[in-house]
Amino acid sequence: MSEIKRYNNSLNLSHVVEAQQFDRETILNNLFPLVDRMKANVAKGARKKALRGYQVISWFEESSTRTAASFALAVDWLGGKIVYSTENAKTFSSRAKGESIEDTIRILSECYHADIVVGRFANNGDAVAAASVAVGKTFIVNAGDGDNQHPTQALLDMYTIHEKFERLDNLTIGLVGDLANGRTVKSLAYLCGKFEGIKLYLVSPEQCKLDQGVKDYLNKHHVFYEEADDLRPVAQELDVLYVTRPQLERDTKLTEADMEPGRFSVDQTVLAELPDEAIILHPLPRTWELPTFVDIDLRACYFEQAENGLYMRMALLKMISHSLPKR
Ligand code: CP
Repeated sequence: MSEIKRYNNSLNLSHVVEAQQFDRETILNNLFPLVDRMKANVAKGARKKALRGYQVISWFEESSTRTAASFALAVDWLGGKIVYSTENAKTFSSRAKGESIEDTIRILSECYHADIVVGRFANNGDAVAAASVAVGKTFIVNAGDGDNQHPTQALLDMYTIHEKFERLDNLTIGLVGDLANGRTVKSLAYLCGKFEGIKLYLVSPEQCKLDQGVKDYLNKHHVFYEEADDLRPVAQELDVLYVTRPQLERDTKLTEADMEPGRFSVDQTVLAELPDEAIILHPLPRTWELPTFVDIDLRACYFEQAENGLYMRMALLKMISHSLPKR
């Protein structure tokens, strides 16, 4: 039996609600080999049956391109069905009438027996709230909750970093941009706490610093971090430059003027300082902080990163399928 098959069969996953729930061994020994396998399956055009007979609901209260589409495609590659999909659940579901997330999930779970609910929630903490009321064998996948967390994004970010460096220890990572309002950086920071010797540069304008709660977690898990207000002096130390956009939809206090080129946005100076072997990531979508001229730079990996989202979500859904009742 191959290593991958053995690892794959050893792990059942239920709810995916926050990055901290994943430990180092699960990530490196179970999840990543399975993602490799999903990637190979898609390359071969090999459709699978892990979700055959299972019903998935795609519940998006906020806009999405990558997460919604890649989950839908992942379900399809695994032979499952998205039986109900709402792209604007805040408007078109009874959430618009004030129904709580708890009642919503009780209906989908207790009353309608959905197997998996992939949810992008407008409010922080609603993924945890959803998982706490889901009964029986309905599993919740957090596709982003408010400005709190985006665990599947952070896992695919880590997978992309691991693909490039073949390790997740002893890396220097620059998290740049709107660190107060971006959820991907928070989940990524939590995952950094699972590895050794990671140094984070937190590069943001004063009004958009990373939450103290996340920094407390970094301290507790011995992740060394340094806050900075200019990317240029630290760029030469980075293995990973992780750029994020101002979260304009969350009333961020940032404007284009605040994202001064070089300081908080990628420009030619930053590219000149960044080591040849570094990689540039961005969860996307982007605005002015990552100009399109960067796309031809050999260090730009953000489209590969987005592609890995499909394979990561397939792997997570496959792991969840191990916890579902046999059909
Ligand atoms: N990175 C990400 O979550 O993108 P979407 O908002 O398009 O899903």
